[in-house]
Amino acid sequence: MAHSSNNGRETRGRFWRDRPEADPRRPFATGLQDMNPTGWVGFLTQSACRLFHSFGKPAPGLPKKPLHALQSFGMVYADMLLGALLGKGWLTRRQVRSVCDFGSGTGGPALAILAFFGLPADRLTLLESQETQAARLRELFPKSRVVAGNGLLWLGSCRERYDLITAFMLGPDAGDGLTLEFVQRALPRLTRTGRLLICTDTATMHGLRCVLGQVSGISCQWLVDEPDLPLTVLVSKIDGNGPPDNLGNVNLPESNIRSAEIADAHGHLETEHYCLATPFEKAYLRATIDAFEAETPTHPGIAQMKRLLD
Ligand SMILES: C[S@@+](CC[C@H](N)C(=O)[O-])C[C@H]1O[C@@H](n2cnc3c(N)ncnc32)[C@H](O)[C@@H]1O
Repeated sequence: MAHSSNNGRETRGRFWRDRPEADPRRPFATGLQDMNPTGWVGFLTQSACRLFHSFGKPAPGLPKKPLHALQSFGMVYADMLLGALLGKGWLTRRQVRSVCDFGSGTGGPALAILAFFGLPADRLTLLESQETQAARLRELFPKSRVVAGNGLLWLGSCRERYDLITAFMLGPDAGDGLTLEFVQRALPRLTRTGRLLICTDTATMHGLRCVLGQVSGISCQWLVDEPDLPLTVLVSKIDGNGPPDNLGNVNLPESNIRSAEIADAHGHLETEHYCLATPFEKAYLRATIDAFEAETPTHPGIAQMKRLLD
């Protein structure tokens, strides 16, 4: 087995590459196969997730459903991220009894939330603007509240309070309008000890740091030194440290922002911007491509997305 001085991370990564048959993530999340595990906590929690899925043991109220590549990827990375925050003592399982997930997408991270906190499905709210995604989420989470439409409007008008509001891979947001509005509307919806968990791509996170710098009476904890996880900030309403400057370490050369004219299934072209600055960001795009290939193999956007990874 190769040795490395990189906190053992590279060594473990080579270990899985040398013994691909032993990699617990392999059949489960193809998009993760080039990534290194983040240690034994990551390994154990991934295995638990894999068992949860493979043996069809649904979380309370969940149907047994096969997951596609992006759902699996979303579930695994969210589980690893929650495990990392727990490991740092920034979150406890007991403090989270109600969750709102903004921009749920395929629902992978929300599956991890239910399993990780052992949350009854009716304590989870999912917000998703795309009607087709929301319809799928209703099938996947029949006992949870799924709100289709602009989640910002819903957060601005609802009466609920949550122990945790999550935005997994928020955006991307080039103009900071989404991040600013999300923070402004989500903070009042937190319980007194509640937390806002936001993870996103490097470009959006740079804007989010400026946004958080303008908000008073909050405290921020940053997870930015795990290349296999998305950049993450945990915000609480406890007056404390504002945003530190440590995101300055994250390089964002122009070449990491790739744009492509991605055709939708009807052939309409739209310019999409992808930030591919970290191994995680590339793996997320790979998982997206895998999901497209499995669901709509003739989709013209697949080849264009693949070119972005070249
Ligand atoms: C990059 S995807 C992330 C999906 C999922 N959280 C994950 O990590 O796999 C962002 C999602 O947010 C949704 N979204 C964007 N703006 C929204 C809004 N204002 N309200 C609700 N959902 C929104 C998009 O439709 C998309 O599904």
